[in-house]
Amino acid sequence: MKTRSKALTLRLALATTALATLPFVGASSAMAEEESIPEECALTISSNDQMQFDQSELAVPASCSTVSLTLEHSGSMDKTTMGHNWVLAATEDYEDVAKEGMQAGPDAGYLPADDDRVLAATDVIGGGESTTIEFSTEGLAGKDLTFFCSFPGHYSLMKGTFQVTES
Ligand code: CO
Repeated sequence: MKTRSKALTLRLALATTALATLPFVGASSAMAEEESIPEECALTISSNDQMQFDQSELAVPASCSTVSLTLEHSGSMDKTTMGHNWVLAATEDYEDVAKEGMQAGPDAGYLPADDDRVLAATDVIGGGESTTIEFSTEGLAGKDLTFFCSFPGHYSLMKGTFQVTES
């Protein structure tokens, strides 16, 4: 009697576990598809009305195959007057990309179209806005990279280094 009751309890426990787990597994695998980026591969950088980024050095370990980069704008000025984006290029290319981007104009996001020198780029945002991109780190490890804002006149102040650190 004692054994039987134990077995029944075990069966009930297993049934309960199965019932409780099934929907959870579904939800968790759906979440995994959307949020598969490890914490150390997710970066956030903020910008403001004073034409500044809040960081001048960003880095991720080479174990990050994909980087999630969130750009925030803590100011209140419109994107037509104090717009910011986050653009990644080789350090040797970034000034040329910024100058050509300026000429490309706002509809092009202040970036030359279909340009391989642009390794990653967010949309231009204004005060109170935020935007997130994901990009691959393939081929970036150990390279001398610069991030900057390509809004006209911003890149000389709004820039920093980006590293994919080889361990
Ligand atoms: Co800017």
